[in-house]
Amino acid sequence: MKKLYLIGKSLKHSISPLIHNKILSNFGIDAVYSNVELPDFEKLKEFVEMVKKDGDVVGFNITIPYKEDILEFCDEVSEDVRIIQAANTVKKEGEKLVAYNTDWLGFKRSLEEVGIDIKDKRILILGAGGAAKACIYGLYRMGVKEVFVANRTYEKAESLKEVFQDILKILPVEWLRRYEFKYDIIINTTSVGMFPNIESSPFEFENYVAGIPVFVYDMIYNPPKTTFLEEAEKKGSKTENGLKMLVYQAVEAEKIWFDIVNLSQSFLLEILKECE
Ligand code: ATR
Repeated sequence: MKKLYLIGKSLKHSISPLIHNKILSNFGIDAVYSNVELPDFEKLKEFVEMVKKDGDVVGFNITIPYKEDILEFCDEVSEDVRIIQAANTVKKEGEKLVAYNTDWLGFKRSLEEVGIDIKDKRILILGAGGAAKACIYGLYRMGVKEVFVANRTYEKAESLKEVFQDILKILPVEWLRRYEFKYDIIINTTSVGMFPNIESSPFEFENYVAGIPVFVYDMIYNPPKTTFLEEAEKKGSKTENGLKMLVYQAVEAEKIWFDIVNLSQSFLLEILKECE
């Protein structure tokens, strides 16, 4: 039986095995997907050694906090990983470990399905970590030419200018000044508001009088409706959480590992329902 893994520091609430094992059994693939918690960098190193030796391992997914660390163990990276400098998917290709990023694909597809017009809109991204970079890359691939980025640590928002210098304009916003300007779309890529800290929000709409965003997206899917999305809805904004992104990035990873063709819409809906 082939093996696949999700690695990360804390995976107790992860629903990735449910999604992947459902896809695998649907396609009759003799493989199992399981979680491996790695408390530190040393354990990450050991995991990579184990994977290299075990002929049954096809690949693995990576989540917080190893999406950037994993790159130093990879022999090749895809074009998008070269820019984003973070990977969520690795495939063993012969002796080599090849890094991919399917987060941006999942994000892009979920946003496309919302059906809102993003052309020439003022878009604010909250956060400047790996998730923010995948989000920005996805927006770039959808034709967006500039984005505002507010991050608690301003320097990190500013450093994204260089990361994306050849493809899109980054306009850094100081964290304390994020309520001062008008935005059409606001996207949260930080972990603020995630279970169990469900009371907190990265953007308090009560403080926001500059305008009502048309659309507000939260990459968090647990809880399904964060305080951030709840407040945005009260203001009248259309909202979307990160569940579709999670499912779609998983589908894209399976495509990389097993050359699976597109999954039917009804099967995807079945997975989404089970995750709710
Ligand atoms: P990921 O790969 O999921 O993006 P990350 O690289 O650790 O994870 O980034 C987490 C993001 O959430 C960062 O933008 C972080 O802000 P800092 O760069 O200032 O650390 C943001 N974040 C985490 N906790 C936060 C908090 N309590 N308030 C505001 N931003 C926070």
